[in-house]
Amino acid sequence: MSTTWTDVAAETDLFDGAAIAVTPAGHDIALYSLDGAVYATDNLCTHGHAKLCDGFLEGHEIECPFHQGRFDIRTGAATCAPATEAVKTWPVKMEAGRVYLDLGG
Ligand code: FES
Repeated sequence: MSTTWTDVAAETDLFDGAAIAVTPAGHDIALYSLDGAVYATDNLCTHGHAKLCDGFLEGHEIECPFHQGRFDIRTGAATCAPATEAVKTWPVKMEAGRVYLDLGG
């Protein structure tokens, strides 16, 4: 597995306690900012065709806007029905005011 850090956003694009969508190299990814940390998961819910960036972030859980399934943004684990399948997470690093994702995996 190689490491490919890709610049996807400026830190100033993020809002604490909320998500935004980024689409580097054809991936649809949600970025979450929470208490100074940034997390990334696939944007598409594993239960249906909803975008998690439109969901509601409560603590470390993102609630899907369609059926209120929930995922832990740190691990991708499904934490509330009807979501049962984990969502993919992506490694994040911050450098010089920019947000990078490792798309190598
Ligand atoms: Fe996300 Fe159903 S589409 S919980």
